[in-house]
Amino acid sequence: MYRTNTCGELRISNVGQKVTLAGWVQRIRKMGGMTFVDLRDRYGLTQLVFDENHDAALTEQANKLGREYVIQVTGTVNERSSKNNKIETGDIEIIVEAMTVLNASQTPPFTIEDNTDGGDDIRMKYRYLDLRRGAVRRNLELRHKMAFEVRRYLDERGFLEVETPVLIGSTPEGARDFVVPSRMNPGQFYALPQSPQLFKQILMVSGFDRYFQIVKCFRDEDLRADRQPEFTQIDCEMSFVEQEDVISLFEDMSKHLFKSILNIDMPEAFPRMTWHDAMKYYGSDKPDLRFDMRFVELMDVLQGHGFSVFDSAAYIGGICAKGAATYTRKQLDALTEYVKRPQIGAKGMVYARVEADGNVKSSVDKFYTQEILQQMKAAMNAEPGDLILILSGDDVMKTRKQLCELRLEVAEQLGLRDKNKFACLWVVDFPMFEWSDEEQRLMAMHHPFTSPKPEDVELLSTNPAAVRANAYDMVINGVEVGGGSIRIHDNELQKKAFEILGFSEERAQSQFGYLLSAFKYGAPPHGGLAYGLDRFVSLFAGLDSIRDCIAFPKNNSGRDVMIDAPAPLEQAQLDELNILVDLKEK
Ligand code: AMO
Repeated sequence: MYRTNTCGELRISNVGQKVTLAGWVQRIRKMGGMTFVDLRDRYGLTQLVFDENHDAALTEQANKLGREYVIQVTGTVNERSSKNNKIETGDIEIIVEAMTVLNASQTPPFTIEDNTDGGDDIRMKYRYLDLRRGAVRRNLELRHKMAFEVRRYLDERGFLEVETPVLIGSTPEGARDFVVPSRMNPGQFYALPQSPQLFKQILMVSGFDRYFQIVKCFRDEDLRADRQPEFTQIDCEMSFVEQEDVISLFEDMSKHLFKSILNIDMPEAFPRMTWHDAMKYYGSDKPDLRFDMRFVELMDVLQGHGFSVFDSAAYIGGICAKGAATYTRKQLDALTEYVKRPQIGAKGMVYARVEADGNVKSSVDKFYTQEILQQMKAAMNAEPGDLILILSGDDVMKTRKQLCELRLEVAEQLGLRDKNKFACLWVVDFPMFEWSDEEQRLMAMHHPFTSPKPEDVELLSTNPAAVRANAYDMVINGVEVGGGSIRIHDNELQKKAFEILGFSEERAQSQFGYLLSAFKYGAPPHGGLAYGLDRFVSLFAGLDSIRDCIAFPKNNSGRDVMIDAPAPLEQAQLDELNILVDLKEK
């Protein structure tokens, strides 16, 4: 038997027991004739003690150990004289009587402890060592627990997990596909699924009225902290449901996760906001509602007083940062520089402090009387001690997005984006289509199978851009955690949607013919949604990037630096696949 116990298990109640442990050497300290070794495994850390006066040869052997050696020890559990309340086994130690070195280790390139000296790159390269660290391991444990709870919850409600294929066909809408050449079908390619969307809809036609799958999805997009090229969805679909049924079931599932994993009771009903209001009041379709600071439009108050920047603007909006009038000139200048960065693109920022006596002092005082500034203060609901920040611009949507960035940055600086606080929100009534400047056509905002709101169907013929969809997103702390919709199940309506998206009948047939033909054989009304498991886990774990809850993630260039992929293929393999590589200079 390699071990009787794990390194996280022994407590004061085990004192006097003879035990055998196996694990990795995390640290070795010599003090006088004593050698202390911290032994680590997946479950924790246990202190081993070697005493020269007791067994000189064994202590000598211990002194030769290196970090990350794999050892097995047998000894007796002893109560520590100086306890360590930072670890769970901190009340005890093992007085070692025998040791076997199971395997030696090279010196690791960074220290494998919660606070490591290894930078991102080195830890990614040696991911197998990084995964030994408690901090990373705990994220994977949380991920397992969440996926397990999801399975249990959905299983109890009659959902069936069905696997769908990974080698499928390429579809034009959405992000770019990752493609896979087919050796047996020369010149032809599979695509990896961006989501199992069409298959889950087909499963509804097949009568599996409650489907789910915890499934890998692939998207060739530019990467960010909350995006990986391969990520995991909790993908769900239901038949004979309306939007309300889907929302209420998955709201309940989210509450179940908060309770079972974090022991947090969420509010009875999550707030809902229309997409239109989210854009108007927060400049984003995923507002962070841990704090308020909603936008106030100030066109009426501030236009027409001779300040040309505002007078010519299509939009002027302000946010009120409570208690932030203490911001120094330097801090305000830094904020102005922040919004002027090319990624945000504002031209400048106007600020106004509400002083203790209620007077308003602004950076544009020479254009505005105190009376007008007081009107602004009233519109902003500002009080003494508050700071008002204002952006303007000639494009309403763009300016709102800039103001959104400002709102998030100020909230960050004021400590309002507390990772231990959770604000859930459903954003509903998304527009069905959005205009693409690049493609010069309307594109599906969600996907082409999303149904319009019944009351907007008539607008499909007259004003498609104004049609609202039966689509919904779940947002937590400003992160889009999930999204879904009620689908079109009527072929005529689907044809109409394709027509608006500029798909010819032939193209629709060649891309989605199988779905359209399945729909001819009795498609039930259906809808569903998908959560991003990686995003959900990283929110629960308070992580800045979803990378940290993925065992083997890709870096920002989409590379797995541990296995060094992607990589060129051997010529023979390319030949077999009929692939000619022609690298164009960029
Ligand atoms: P959507 O494209 O909104 O919907 O994706 C659902 C959820 O998946 C997560 N997600 C990602 N997570 C990490 N990295 C990525 N690159 C990434 N892309 C998306 C997000 C998102 O909310 N088939 C539809 C769902 C449906 O209509 O049922 C779909 O895929 O958390």
